[in-house]
Order: sequence, then structure tokens, then C-alpha cells
Amino acid sequence: MQISGSMIPFILLAFILISGASSAHTENDFLECLSLQFRKSNSESDSIYTPLNASYSSIFQSSIRNLRPASKSGQKPVVIITPEHESQIQAAIYCSKKHGIQLKVRSGGHDYEGLSYISQTSFFIVDMRNLRSISIDTEKNTAWVQTGATLGELYYTISQKSKTLAFTAGVCPTVGVGGHFSGGGYGMMSRKHGIAADHIIDAKLIDANGQILDRESMGEDLFWAIRGGGGTSFGIVVAFEVKLIVIPETVTVFNVTRTLEQNATQLVHRWQYVADKIDDNLLLRLFLRSINSSGKRTIRASFTSLYLGRVDDLLIIMQEKFPELSLVKEDCTEMRWIESILFFAGFQGRSLDILLNRTQASTRYFKGKSDYVKQPIPEYGLKGIWKFLNQEDVNRAELQFSPYGGRIYNISESEIPFPHRSGNIFMIHYGVGWSEEENAKSGRHINWIRKLYTYMARYVSKSPRAAYFNYRDLDIGMNSIEGNTSYKQASVWGFKYFKHNFRRLVHIKSKADPTNFFRNEQSVPPVSPW
Ligand SMILES: Cc1cc2nc3c(=O)[nH]c(=O)nc-3n(C[C@H](O)[C@H](O)[C@H](O)COP(=O)(O)OP(=O)(O)OC[C@H]3O[C@@H](n4cnc5c(N)ncnc54)[C@H](O)[C@@H]3O)c2cc1C
Ligand SMILES: *[C@@H]1O[C@H](CO)[C@@H](O)[C@H](O)[C@H]1NC(C)=O
Ligand SMILES: *[C@@H]1O[C@H](CO)[C@@H](O)[C@H](O)[C@H]1NC(C)=O
Ligand SMILES: *[C@@H]1O[C@H](CO)[C@@H](O)[C@H](O)[C@H]1NC(C)=O
Ligand SMILES: *[C@@H]1O[C@H](CO)[C@@H](O)[C@H](O)[C@H]1NC(C)=O
Ligand SMILES: *[C@@H]1O[C@H](CO)[C@@H](O)[C@H](O)[C@H]1NC(C)=O
Ligand SMILES: *[C@@H]1O[C@H](CO)[C@@H](O)[C@H](O)[C@H]1NC(C)=O
Ligand SMILES: *[C@@H]1O[C@H](CO)[C@@H](O)[C@H](O)[C@H]1NC(C)=O
Repeated sequence: MQISGSMIPFILLAFILISGASSAHTENDFLECLSLQFRKSNSESDSIYTPLNASYSSIFQSSIRNLRPASKSGQKPVVIITPEHESQIQAAIYCSKKHGIQLKVRSGGHDYEGLSYISQTSFFIVDMRNLRSISIDTEKNTAWVQTGATLGELYYTISQKSKTLAFTAGVCPTVGVGGHFSGGGYGMMSRKHGIAADHIIDAKLIDANGQILDRESMGEDLFWAIRGGGGTSFGIVVAFEVKLIVIPETVTVFNVTRTLEQNATQLVHRWQYVADKIDDNLLLRLFLRSINSSGKRTIRASFTSLYLGRVDDLLIIMQEKFPELSLVKEDCTEMRWIESILFFAGFQGRSLDILLNRTQASTRYFKGKSDYVKQPIPEYGLKGIWKFLNQEDVNRAELQFSPYGGRIYNISESEIPFPHRSGNIFMIHYGVGWSEEENAKSGRHINWIRKLYTYMARYVSKSPRAAYFNYRDLDIGMNSIEGNTSYKQASVWGFKYFKHNFRRLVHIKSKADPTNFFRNEQSVPPVSPW
């Protein structure tokens, strides 16, 4: 048959209508499947939200921290389920397979690229918010934490049980346990105690066959993979058991700020020779921004720090190892560890139960990236960074320098999938945010951060240029939408996040989920490199 030019739009339209109708058909079948399975397991369908339910939108948006991913093209979930029992997750997996609707799992919703809540294909969300119980064993110093819990809920719950137990994980209280622990988990105690994933001792995982596995039944390979390799490639983690850490009853915090006029360049330069080597009990994190100071642009470096001990001991260490900062007693505050959580979250002086609030004050458009630094950046290199920061609008962009060393160095690269150990002085986090009104011009901010990243290439790790999995960045490579990503294609981003551990992750994935049921834009593919 000859197709005339004028027929093409008609054929296209017909195709769209038919495929639209058939996907709606599939979606209805999927929904029916879910309702039926839920009824079979005696659970009500009040944990199933379709776009017809009044609260669908608020449930969808409630844990979104970054407006950028959802503002791009992409589909909204066909259904959001908020399981209260494992049987509902098993039902979701069964129906997802049967009707070919992609499953995405969301715990705290903080994924930088929105991979837990948007997709390019027809999909639904298993939102873990109702599975968030936390039980602490103060005799064994352990805790079982369901993945829908937030870091704030975990920290709060521990603090109610003990003055000397704590956990080492991230700073932002609304981050979810599910994504954070399975992807690493760096925080203010990481030099002394390592990252969250270093402390996982057991887990409850639901695999692609709907089986509920623990450490023993999943085996050491799979258990290795979900401690830093991202849960999302391997199954749905329902809970982690972690070893808690012992801390002193009193800790000391300070947040000392220096501008260029106060020798910030020299201090930041010097910091690179100190930050990973100083006493393990001390973590000096650096935040860098461009500010207006009496009408003039300058760089503000904030040395935001936690010392696991008393102020007098801290001052002795600082006097000996970093006298240039001129830290004085008045800069420091002694407090309980849980109060330091409020301090670093910007909630100093508020009541502790603010840690239980899962709603963040503001959301905005955001792009983040990461790098690892193995050799100190020279002063002229830092000045180049200041130029970039001064190009962006005041208070839109921030760099964080997070020091490594201590316990992080003492663990081997292959102990768990998180490979960034000895030899990394610090990690850089690049961030730029913008508002709704500005979104039309968002290309400007994204270009800015990409140019800065290009500039930084000469100062950071190479072959691979490493990146932190929890600061997810699709600029460094992604899988094909069809789900048939090759090993070679995935290893572009895979080696950056996991170095040589990527091979083992692929090997484990090939055994645990050979059909690639659990997948997203940056999930480990199940093809063998051998
Ligand atoms: C404001 C903010 C502050 C942050 N601060 C820190 C910090 O201090 N230190 C640090 O290390 N990181 C930090 N991060 C990064 C954070 O660790 C990651 O974004 C983390 O993946 C978020 O986990 P989540 O459960 O909140 O995210 P989600 O978006 O729910 O999930 C992230 C990924 O994990 C998968 N996933 C989630 N739950 C499960 C589960 N139960 N089973 C299997 N897969 C699952 C998702 O599908 C998705 O791919 C921060 C992020 C933000 C936005
Ligand atoms: C959503 O609507 C359906 C149909 O009215 C109802 O059965 C279900 O219980 C609703 N779900 C929620 C979470 O309210
Ligand atoms: C900055 O460094 C110079 C030279 O080391 C020193 O003389 C000066 O006092 C420092 N300024 C401040 C504010 O610390
Ligand atoms: C910074 O200062 C300049 C010059 O005084 C002014 O034009 C600009 O609006 C200020 N920006 C902010 C964000 O305060
Ligand atoms: C540290 O000080 C800077 C500058 O005043 C401020 O913007 C930042 O919020 C402070 N950080 C903490 C954790 O208090
Ligand atoms: C939780 O925080 C949000 C944002 O700051 C606020 O609007 C809300 O009132 C808080 N909720 C409670 C119960 O305190
Ligand atoms: C790391 O190992 C060194 C050398 O064995 C040891 O002195 C140090 O205490 C360890 N640090 C931590 C935090 O485990
Ligand atoms: C994946 O599938 C698509 C569509 O079938 C095809 O075009 C593409 O070449 C495949 N990619 C790989 C890496 O096999």
C-alpha cells in the first residue's frame, strides 16, 4: 500500500489512540490484580491510591525533595501503594510481573534524580512510608529499622532509649533509611565510625519471586550487594538490622566562618592537609558559598564540625593540628549527641520531636554532583572554584567538602560495594538550587554546574572519575529505557560509583534477578562480564 503524505498524521493518531487504549487496558487489569491480591491477603484496598483518589497527589508529592525530575517529561505513577504488610509487597511484585507495569520503590523520596518516583514508562510506586517501625535492643546495641523510617525517626528513637548509643548516617533528618543505607550513608561521625552501610548486620529483603529473605537465606553475596550497591537493583528491602555505636554523653560542635578577606583561601588549602589525618573523633566539614558582604561578592567558608568529646580536648587538638583556624572556646558548644543532630540540621534550640516531622519546610529545583579528591587542590585551583561560585546568583550554589580518613580508610575497598576508602582525602558535593519562578531558565544553572564539573576534572580522581552513588547523577551515564542495557554501557556509570565492585554486583544481579525485574535508569544490569 502506498501511504500518501496526508495519511501519515492519521495513521500516527490511530496508533497513539490504540496504544493509549491498550495501556489503559493493561493498567486496569493491573489494578484489578492488585485489589484481588490484597483481598486474598485480607488487607483492605485503602493503601491503593489511583489518580482518582483525592489524596493521590498529596501522597505523590509529600516526600519529593527535588522538583526538577518531576518537572521534566516523564509519567506519573499509575498507582501508589503504601503497604502495611509484606504480603502487599508480594502482591505488588506478582501483579507488576503479570501485567508488565514497572515497579519503583520509594522510602524517603530524596533521590537526586527522582528515580524512586518518576519513570519514562508505565509504572507504579511502592511507597514504604507505613513500614517504619524501629526496635532498639540496648543489651546487644542493635536496632531493626524498617526502611520507610527516616533518619530523624531513627535518631530520635535511639535517643529516647540511651544517652550513649547512636548511629552513624546522614545529616538531613527527612532522608529515608531505604535509599540511604542501601547506598552508603555518610555523616558527621563517619571518620570515627564509618558509613551507615558498614554497620548493617542483617536485612529483610523481598526478591523478584516474592520470597522474603534474611541474611542467612539470601546468602552472603546478595547481603553484600545491598550494603552500598543500592537496594533497588536487587529487591525491596523491608528492614535493616544495624549495629549501634557507642558515643560519649557530651560532644562538642562548632561552625566557624571565614571569608576571603579573612584568609579563606589559605585556610581551605591548609584544611586539605589536615582534614583526613586529624584525630578520628573530629570531623571538620566545609561548606562553601558566594555571599554579598557589604555589597561586595566574597566566598564564605564554613567549617562545620563535630568532636566526639569535650571542648578542652578539642581545643588542644586544634591548637596542635590546625592553629591557622584560630578556634576559640567561645566558638564551641558542648551538648548531647542528639542535640548535635538538631544543630547540623539547622534546628538548634527546637524540641527534639521536630525529628519526627517528615515534611520538609521547602522544596525547590535542584541539581547535584560529586567528586573525590586524592591530592590537595592548589590555591590557584581553589581561586578558580571561587570564580565559578561568584558567577552564580548569591546563595544558589554550594560546595561541600566532606573529609574521609579514620574508620573509612580502615575498611577495604571490597568489604562492601561502597569503594571510596583509603586515599580519598575528601568528597566534593556540588549543588545548585533554584525556584519555581526561575525554572524556565533552569538550563542556566545546569550548564553552570556542568561547566564547573568540567573545570574540576584536573583536580579530582581519574580512571574512573569516582562518584558517590547516593548523590545520584544521570549525567555520568544511564541505562537504556528498554531495559536491555549492556555491561559495557552500564559500566560507564557503574565503575564511577563502585569501582571494581561493579563486576561483582553484575555477577550477583545475574543470579538474583536474571530477568532484570528490578530496574531503573541506573540499576545494575544482569549480564555477565565473563
Ligand atoms: C536534602 C538531602 C540531604 C542529604 N544528605 C545526605 C547526607 O548527609 N549523607 C549522605 O550520605 N547522603 C545524603 N543525601 C543523599 C541520600 O542519601 C540519598 O538521596 C538516598 O538515596 C535517599 O534515600 P531515600 O530513601 O530518602 O530516597 P528514595 O528516593 O526513596 O530512594 C533512593 C533510591 O533507593 C531506592 N530505594 C528506596 N527504598 C528502597 C527499599 N526499601 N528497597 C530497595 N530500594 C529502595 C529507590 O528506588 C531509589 O532508587 C541527601 C539527600 C538530600 C535530598
Ligand atoms: C481509592 O478509591 C477507591 C475507589 O473509590 C477505593 O476503593 C479506595 O479505598 C481508595 N483508596 C484510598 C487510599 O482512599
Ligand atoms: C591572613 O594571613 C596573613 C598572612 O599569613 C596574616 O598576616 C593575617 O593576619 C591573616 N588575616 C586574618 C584575618 O587572619
Ligand atoms: C548583592 O549586592 C549587590 C550590590 O550591592 C546587589 O545588587 C544585589 O542585589 C545583592 N544580592 C543579594 C542576593 O543580596
Ligand atoms: C554555619 O554558618 C553559616 C554562616 O553563618 C550558616 O549559613 C550555616 O547554616 C551554619 N551551619 C550550621 C550547621 O549551623
Ligand atoms: C512539619 O514541618 C512542616 C514544614 O516545616 C510544617 O509546616 C508542619 O507544621 C510541621 N508539622 C508538625 C506536626 O509540626
Ligand atoms: C584505623 O586504623 C589505625 C591503624 O590500625 C588505628 O590506629 C585507628 O585507631 C583506626 N581508626 C578507626 C577509627 O578505626
Ligand atoms: C535494546 O533494545 C532496543 C529496542 O529493541 C534496540 O534498539 C537496542 O539496540 C538494544 N540495545 C542493546 C544494548 O542491546
